Amino acid sequence: MTEIPEHLLKRSRAAKGKDDSAADAGADSGASSAAVTPAAKTEAVSAGPPALVAAAAAIGADAPQAPEPEKPHFVQAAEKRKRMPMWAMFLLFFVPLWAVSFGGTMQLPDVEDPLFTEAAELYNVTGGCAGCHGGGGGGGVGYQLNDGSVVETFPHVADQMVHVYRGSDAIKGEAYGAERADGRRISGSRGAMPAATTLHQIELELVIFHERVVLAGEDTSSDEYIEYIDHLRERLEAGEGTGDVTDEYFEMLLACSDPEITPGATGEGAVDDDGENICPGPHLEEE
Ligand code: HEC
Repeated sequence: MTEIPEHLLKRSRAAKGKDDSAADAGADSGASSAAVTPAAKTEAVSAGPPALVAAAAAIGADAPQAPEPEKPHFVQAAEKRKRMPMWAMFLLFFVPLWAVSFGGTMQLPDVEDPLFTEAAELYNVTGGCAGCHGGGGGGGVGYQLNDGSVVETFPHVADQMVHVYRGSDAIKGEAYGAERADGRRISGSRGAMPAATTLHQIELELVIFHERVVLAGEDTSSDEYIEYIDHLRERLEAGEGTGDVTDEYFEMLLACSDPEITPGATGEGAVDDDGENICPGPHLEEE
């Protein structure tokens, strides 16, 4: 299969028949091809002083002299130029497609980031959440979490930690979460959410990170969020937060939670000895 239109091939055949010189053939169809330039140059300067003619001959040395090949060199060059290799077409088509589908699902981080891989592991395997909420958070026995859903129920991290840690039986029949488009949640109305009491402090935070950021696609572009993620990663790498969720730690979570969202929350906030806010979740550290 050739991509040279028939009328152009006819033209080059006609040129060949009229005159066997490559220079003339080039000049005849010159308007359509840049590959013609050296040959055309040879012709243009051949009337000049001998030194120039010699130089021009050197420039045009690669122009075929005789006999003419089946297809003139400029036709061959044009054929080569027009073809895009199959692999390049493949890339052009599939790379954007892959990027879009990847961006849409956000199932896998593009680097081996322990923060993301640990969080995913907790959700999918160790914590067993995926069994009831789906690997992509689409829901099942438990509520859908993805598509912003869990962030609509829990605008803040601490409230969600309280809920996941104590489970739904602890507040059975009570309203929890923020006012959603479909109203407030009533605990136990869909089933039983088991208390995730086996998770360590940082594991509880990580599994919720996975639900909010990876599955629900929460906006993490604020300075607060970026700082929070850095802090979480630092603690993970330093091996901090591996203690159980003690009564004291749970009290802290209740203090960090919003009474309008979480039954039993005090909303007092929590600070360390230096007065730093230690509530889990994004908040700018005070200067
Ligand atoms: C045995 C099934 C099951 C497992 C395992 C499970 N859940 Fe649930 N989850 C549920 C059910 C059922 C509900 C709704 C309970 C209710 O009606 O109050 C729920 C509710 C939730 C909610 C509240 C969502 C909302 O919008 O109201 C969150 C958050 C949640 N689960 C997180 C988790 C996490 C994190 C894990 C893993 C540590 C987990 N779940 C494991 C069944 C499960």
